Formats: sequence, structure tokens, C-alpha cells
Amino acid sequence: MTTTPSTIVLKFGGSVLRADGDIAAVVHEIYRWVRSGHKIVAVVSAIEGQTDALLDRAAQYGPGASEHATALLLATGELQSAALLGLALGRAGIDASVLPPSAINLCTLGETLDAEPVSLDITRLRNALDRAPVAVVPGFVGIGNGGQWTLLGRGGTDLTALFLAQQLGATCRLIKDVDGLYQWDPAKPGPRPQRYARIGIGDALALGGQIVQNKALRFVREHAQQFEVSTFNAPHATLVTADAQSQLAEPTQPAFIRRVAVLGFGTVGQGVVSHLKHQPDRFAISAIAVRDTDKARRAGAEESLLTTDLAAAIDNADVVIETLGGLEPARSIVAKALTRGTHVITANKALIARHGSKLRALAKRSGATLTYSAAVGGAAPVLEVAGTLKPSANLRRVEGIINGTTNFILDRVLAGGNFDDALTAAQHAGFAEADPSRDLDGWDAADKLALIAHASFGLNLDPDDIDRQPLTAPAIALALEKASPGQRPRYIAWLERDGKKIKAGVGLALVSLDHPLANVRAEHNRVVFTLSDNAEHLATGRGAGRWPTAQAVLADLLDLHRATRPVESLHQHELDSAVV
Ligand code: NDP
Ligand code: HSE
Repeated sequence: MTTTPSTIVLKFGGSVLRADGDIAAVVHEIYRWVRSGHKIVAVVSAIEGQTDALLDRAAQYGPGASEHATALLLATGELQSAALLGLALGRAGIDASVLPPSAINLCTLGETLDAEPVSLDITRLRNALDRAPVAVVPGFVGIGNGGQWTLLGRGGTDLTALFLAQQLGATCRLIKDVDGLYQWDPAKPGPRPQRYARIGIGDALALGGQIVQNKALRFVREHAQQFEVSTFNAPHATLVTADAQSQLAEPTQPAFIRRVAVLGFGTVGQGVVSHLKHQPDRFAISAIAVRDTDKARRAGAEESLLTTDLAAAIDNADVVIETLGGLEPARSIVAKALTRGTHVITANKALIARHGSKLRALAKRSGATLTYSAAVGGAAPVLEVAGTLKPSANLRRVEGIINGTTNFILDRVLAGGNFDDALTAAQHAGFAEADPSRDLDGWDAADKLALIAHASFGLNLDPDDIDRQPLTAPAIALALEKASPGQRPRYIAWLERDGKKIKAGVGLALVSLDHPLANVRAEHNRVVFTLSDNAEHLATGRGAGRWPTAQAVLADLLDLHRATRPVESLHQHELDSAVV
């Protein structure tokens, strides 16, 4: 029995899709909602300007051109955005389906170029959301009576999003380039308008359809619906309601930029730096620390940011991102940063498994935050799901594939490949630890189990106390000998609560082909959380590699940016006397 998370429809229009590069910001916004336990339907417009360019192309064929042909041509703009978003989500390790109107039978009535959405195969959409946390749907387009393509009129992506939300009974948020609806255009010279916290449809219609399509607003009024208007990573939104009550919001704090030091410029560090460079309105990289600066320069690091001095690297930072790996010097530098009140985000599970308690205590004392979502599951939000279930206190068992390298190797060997070649491929792909015996001997999974135990139960589990069976070629051969038809060997990590104690293990197990872990492929991860009433919660996603890991690191950073403002660091004398 798998429980149903709540669904949100997010709409991304031309104002936030100005170029292909903006797709990354869309992925970050979607991942924010995946992490908070939602299923997401992402509705996209064409990249800004593309619809006009396609209209101009259609116009070259003179007046009286076929409306069906025009609709088909214009639809290619939205289809491209949906396809690009599907590809970008895949690279980030977030499972998603891309659903053109034919896949969900999104039917329209009325004029070919200004149609109304009227029906949908809701079961197909729900099935897609059961298979993956995200469904991407091109906005603005549908299928008419004769099976031909139709368009929902200018700004019709808003209408697609609101229609899908209404059909699903889901929340809807339109993501724009402003954080809500204002009394007048905030870009206009003169006094700054106030944002509405909530606005009635009548007042919203009076704003003139510049931010939300009027046809979409009328649809909302007819269906007594409500929705939100907001922007990327905003902590607030304007709620648009069918009732007439409008209310202005308190003025929001001005935007600010955080200085971020990135320690390590390897598989993960390079991905993080790339993401940070695309967020110049939020983050400035203050330093990149490595051992070998020539190597980092060759990998594209900016000369002026490079240092081999970890202490100097964290000096001017508001946030430290640790992607060095290993216990030392990672422990000392993270402790130093936390002691002085600098926030730390790390992907280092070995560090947190061994020193998490002390580091968390340092953070608590200085008021800094210490987060490490990337340390478990890559883009699969494993620690987040564990954290949501913790307060209910009825989590019974956690079981999953939480090491990408061993799953990748096992898959290749089961397909007839050679064990050592598969390990080399995993290393080249950036999945394996610097010392791959940590993956093969089960240490990496044991470290991750320790983090899951803390997130799930608030209990400390020593990785040394976890039973580990290494993954070797003979162990796989033996498992295959024992397997009955309809069973598959998987390298599984599990833990169970037994009062105040936790039992845990890592090793090969035979699972039936319909088991939720049977079909996890390559470096993908999946964790099943089972409650005492047997209800199951899942976390899935790509578990290793540059982009899934960088995605999780950036999500921690965006959460921090949304939730807190920079704090003054402690004074120098307090730093000098700090015990690290
Ligand atoms: P890499 O080996 O690719 O990169 C490590 C980086 O840290 C290199 O740039 C290295 O510099 C630098 N570094 C290491 N030690 C020092 C030091 N003493 N002083 C300065 N710089 C140092 O590792 P990954 O990026 O793969 O992994 C980093 C962390 O992320 C690890 O904790 C790992 O467990 C974790 N992680 C990795 C995932 C993955 O898929 N790769 C997924 C999830 C978590 P130089 O090259 O100059 O030596
Ligand atoms: N080496 C790890 C793995 C990296 O293969 O899962 C991700 O934590």
C-alpha cells in the first residue's frame, strides 16, 4: 500500500523561459517541490519569442493559411520546451515523464487557434504520476474534435495549468518573473506598488491580463478555483481566489547575494560551481579550494577564485560547500566554519556518519545550519522523506538501493559484463568514491544508513556496527546460483527499529521481480520506508554522479537562501578561542 503525496501544478511561462539556459532554474524549482514530498505536473510555454517567430513563419504563407497547420507549427515551441525540460530533469536525476496532449487525451472544443480545454484522460495522468514524481506537459496545446492540434489562445499555458489542476483537484502555482501580483507594474518608473497577499478575480481581471491570461481567470471564476502567482524560490506568493477579498502584503526584504566558498572541484564541486554561476542574483562564489590548482584550472575553474588554503577559502564566506570527501581535513574545516557561524552544506556522508553529532552541536551553538541532503540518494530525496516521517514515530523499516556504484556494477554483470570493467566504467562516470572499496565493501551504504537512522529516528547508529557483505564477482555468481526463476539479486541496505536500538545491514539479497527494488537500474537509487500499518513511502532518483549530487547541494542552498538572511559572524577573538 503506497501512500499518495499531494500534487501541485507548476506553470513556467515565457517570462521565466527566456533561453534554453533558464531550464536549469525550472529544474531547481521543480526539485524544491519534489523534496517537500509533492508530485509535480510541470506545464511549460515555448521559450520567449519562439511563438512570435513561428507565427511570422506561418504568416509568410499569406492570409487564409490553414489554421490546423498554423496550430501544429506553433505547438512545436511548447513541445520543444517540454522535451528540453524532460532531458534536463533526467540529467539532474529526477524521474519524470513527458506527456504531449495525445498521451493524456487533452481534448478541446471551439476555435482551432483559441480553443477551450474540455476533457482529459485523468487516469493516464495519475498513472504517470504514480510511476515518477514529475510529469511535464506542454501548455497552450490540445487536440480538437477531428484529432488535430489546437491552441488555447495567447497566454494559454496559464489555462492548461489551471485546467489540469482543476481536473486533478491539485494546487496550482504560476511561476512568473515577479513574485506575485502587484497594484501596478513594479518595473514602471515612479512609486513602487505593493504586492497582493491575496486578490479577488475581479481585481485580478482589472489588472488587464498582463500577468495572468484573462481567459484563464474567467475559467477560475467559473470553477470557483484558486491559484498562486509567484517566482523562482520565493517564500511567498499571491493567492488568487474566486471570492472578492483582496489584501495587500507586508513589504518584503530586498534581495541579497550570499558569498559561497566551494571546497573541492571534482565530480561534485564542478557541478555545484556550474549551478552557482547561473544564479548571479543570489550567489557569488568567493573561493574554490583544491589541492592541485593546475588541474582545477584545466577543468575550468576561474584563476582568481582558486586557492589551496582551506582556511583562507572559508574566510569571507557566508556559506561553505564541502565536496572534498574523506574525514580530514574535511572535519576540521567544517568544524571551523560552523564554529564561526558560517552555514555548511556537505555531500560527505563519511564525515557526517562519523562526526555528525559533534558537528550538529557546533552548528546549534553558533546558529549556523549544517545540511547534507546530497550525502544520501543523490537527487532521490531520501533524508527529506525520512524527516517528514520522523514525527509520526511509526516508521518500522527502511530498505533501499543507496549505492549507485554497486547497483551499476551488478546490473552490468547480470547483463553478462565483466566485474572489473564495470567498476572502471563507474569510476569514469564519477559514481565511485575516491577509494572504490568504500562502495564495494558496503562502507558507503553503511555511512548512508547511519544518516538515514538519524533523520528517521533521531538515533545515532555507528557504521561499524552494521553487518556488511562486500559486493564481489564470486558473491554475485553465488547469488545467481541460489536465485529461483523470477528472482533477481540486488545490493540492498536496510534498517529496522527495535525499541531504542536499530538493526541494520548491507548485502546481496534475492528479490522477486515485482519487488519495488527489483527494477532500479544502473546508478539509480530507491528507498522504501515502511510504517507500522504497512503503508509505504518511496524516494527515487539518480543516486550518484555530478548532476544529481549538485542538484541536491543546490537545493540545500536554495532552501537556506529562502529561509534565512545572512547573520553577522562571531568576532575574531571568539574564533581564535573556538575549539575545533
Ligand atoms: P572528487 O575526488 O571528484 O573531488 C574531490 C575534490 O576535492 C577535488 O577537487 C580535490 O582536489 C579536492 N580535495 C580533496 N582533498 C583536498 C584537500 N585536502 N585540500 C583541498 N582540496 C582537496 O570527489 P567527488 O566530487 O566525487 O566527491 C566529493 C564528496 O561528495 C565525497 O564526500 C563523496 O562521498 C560525495 N558524494 C559524491 C557523489 C558522486 O557521485 N561522486 C555523490 C554523493 C556524494 P584535487 O583534485 O586537487 O586533489
Ligand atoms: N559512491 C557513491 C555511490 C556516490 O556510488 O552511490 C553517491 O553517494
